[in-house]
Amino acid sequence: MDSEFHRMARDIMEHPRFQQLRGFIHHGADNSVYDHSVAVAESAYAIARKMRLSEGETQSVVRAALLHDFFGYDWHSDRFRRYRGSFSGIQRLARMHAFVHGHIAAGRARRTFGLTDRECEAIARHMFPLAAMPRTRIAWIVTWADKVVASKEMTLALGGYMTSFYQKIFGALA
Ligand SMILES: [Fe+2]
Ligand SMILES: [Fe+2]
Repeated sequence: MDSEFHRMARDIMEHPRFQQLRGFIHHGADNSVYDHSVAVAESAYAIARKMRLSEGETQSVVRAALLHDFFGYDWHSDRFRRYRGSFSGIQRLARMHAFVHGHIAAGRARRTFGLTDRECEAIARHMFPLAAMPRTRIAWIVTWADKVVASKEMTLALGGYMTSFYQKIFGALA
């Protein structure tokens, strides 16, 4: 039988534009934007349930969390680097992925899935303190879940890079 989480998440998770996120690497070679987004949504759902939020608010938490990184481009790509490189000084800084992707994701989420203003605001502010401060419980939960999940993923990725680095060094010495 379906879990409550899957009932709330299914229409987004099965959508072709959300499935495209499987093709974008995120925090390390083994982590896609899809993997990350689903992990953040599961974690945000667990927090919402622990806080005894209403079903409607929990659904908003799940939708905003699933789509918080729905920016739809590969931020490691040469194409994105060239785009930023076409600007200079403060304009280039302002277009750093960390600053812009929350707003881009919110716009795409609204256009593709018709998210509410509160859900879009949660997405646009999830990069706090690099973005404006969250103002709702939904936004705080998405921001917190993203930080926790991203920290775990980046720690794992760093461990993987260190292991392959040492294997190369010791392999060359053996
Ligand atoms: Fe993000
Ligand atoms: Fe994220």
